[in-house]
Amino acid sequence: MTVEAPSRTWSQRHLLDVDGLSRAKIERILDLAVEMREARASREYRSLLETETVGLAFYEPSTRTRVSFELAAKALGATTVDLHLAGSSVLKGESLVDTLRTLERTGVTMLVLRHGAAGAPHLAVRTTGMHVLNAGDGTHAHPTQALLDALTLRDALGSLDGRTVAIVGDVAHSRVARSNLHALRTLGALVRVAGPTPWVNEFDGWPDVEVAPSLAEALDGADAVMTLRVQTERATKDAVSLDDYVRDWRLDDSRMSLANPEAFILHPGPTNEGVELTAALANGPRTLIGRQVENGVPVRMAVMALLTGAA
Ligand code: NCD
Repeated sequence: MTVEAPSRTWSQRHLLDVDGLSRAKIERILDLAVEMREARASREYRSLLETETVGLAFYEPSTRTRVSFELAAKALGATTVDLHLAGSSVLKGESLVDTLRTLERTGVTMLVLRHGAAGAPHLAVRTTGMHVLNAGDGTHAHPTQALLDALTLRDALGSLDGRTVAIVGDVAHSRVARSNLHALRTLGALVRVAGPTPWVNEFDGWPDVEVAPSLAEALDGADAVMTLRVQTERATKDAVSLDDYVRDWRLDDSRMSLANPEAFILHPGPTNEGVELTAALANGPRTLIGRQVENGVPVRMAVMALLTGAA
């Protein structure tokens, strides 16, 4: 029997979600990201996107995601343009589709879109011819965040097969958690979610996702714990008081002793200081939070190169 070499062709022009990515594809992105991380400044990579113009359209605030997409595009030789929402015609009432078509007509070939409405990147695919990268849409998906989290965990733990990852906090409002649930399970991890009931009950019955009834049960034997920003701007009716959240769910060194002794801590940022976790834990020896940020650039380089067929 002959074993076929994995195909080098990459069929997707867009990255809207991680749901459509097989394990082989996720691993290919992570492997390429490692290569890019090691050789970020090399000539070879700097020419990969030199014919592309990357438009950054962030309709919601962002630091890590916007900066790392821009640096990733520049590291691959692309021209970049930032829509600068506050000074754009969006404030004059221009529709999303009109704005995106304008970007395309001015020469943007690859759109990086963050928007408060779930499905906005799908609309961009339907109405323009640009490559579309979802940089976070509503509570739906944040694929490059899940990919950089997967790379960070793989760096720290080796294979994710059979490892237990607990996702703690405001899971219901988190596009980061939804994308991570898919990526982590696809890579073989066992995923637990835990938090105040209104923020986790919709995950009951999800295949291969355990809803842990308490923080102690979520942390028991976990190899990594990912906590999430409490999304005060999205949590409305079901809002859990911050005092109650801190009392029952905030991670600190003593609570982390319920997890595996070597367990790592992740947070996609930005953190509400002292709410999701203590500063001591965020800055202590178990933290991977800085590594998550560092991996943002090479993961986005890898994705952009693959979507254009340059890698
Ligand atoms: C997140 C986002 O905006 O989706 N941050 C990020 O991209 N690193 C999470 C958040 O806002 O809480």
